[in-house]
Amino acid sequence: MPFDVQQPQAYQHLTTRPISGGVGAEIEGVDLADAPPHVMAEVHQALLQHGVIFFRDQELRPEELIAAAKCFGPLNIHPIYLPLDGYPEIMPVVKEPTATMNIGNSWHSDVSFMEKPSLGSLLYALDVPPYGADTIFASQRLAYEGLSDEMKSMLGGMRAVHSDRILSSAESKAKRNAGRSTKLDETPTPEVQTTHPVIRTIPETGQRHLYVNEAFTIRFDGMTEAESKPLLDFLYEHGHKPEFTCRFQWRKGSVAFWDNRAVQHYAINDYQGFRREMWRVTVEGERPE
Ligand code: SIN
Repeated sequence: MPFDVQQPQAYQHLTTRPISGGVGAEIEGVDLADAPPHVMAEVHQALLQHGVIFFRDQELRPEELIAAAKCFGPLNIHPIYLPLDGYPEIMPVVKEPTATMNIGNSWHSDVSFMEKPSLGSLLYALDVPPYGADTIFASQRLAYEGLSDEMKSMLGGMRAVHSDRILSSAESKAKRNAGRSTKLDETPTPEVQTTHPVIRTIPETGQRHLYVNEAFTIRFDGMTEAESKPLLDFLYEHGHKPEFTCRFQWRKGSVAFWDNRAVQHYAINDYQGFRREMWRVTVEGERPE
């Protein structure tokens, strides 16, 4: 029987406090540094229910962050960004005061150009600016449910092509490295393209989700980019309606854990002159169906 995301859940080892009417909840009562498996099982349920969950006041060594993420599956190593020294599983997400660009400053679902995009990521805040640098999340379940029946039915038969070209070209790598503190490996790599269904179903819940994103989706399968653009533009705008979103204000020690299959996210770049340092660890996902 799939997990029913619409039913309120009775948790025994944690409490949840939704931060918007659509998506996202803060979790209280969990220390990610040494939570036992029965607590992590409830964390997993809360993730399925809310799409993205947040923890405050965590103190995690690299090994503890990695161990917490491993409770949800094997870990991915990012194909393009360079890892933290000595910890290949940790991707530092850093913006120094002099940098002009941050990571994730467009609506996206992580690495959707891969055959098996990630299940989700834990992002841990080590250093945050006094204000700004929030992250916004948008529920793609609500986005799907907000479409007309005709649109749902048409999209249900379609696939879309996802590409890493905004990250992989030599020109784009050089531009990103010039403006950012977190560096990409500048060795040129061939463009990766993958097709996925436009509507994906999460196996644990049976819920359908819109699965196209403006960072990586380039066209519908069987159509040109020009033919695809009007409908893709509509779906992007629809998929980020304020009612489907929540906005998370970081503090030092906060952790966000998002289900990358169920939400898109956007990192706001409004903190010029301030430093922000996060560590990201990513759990392997399945082929979207
Ligand atoms: C990301 O897209 O993984 C970065 C999100 C953030 O830094 O808030």
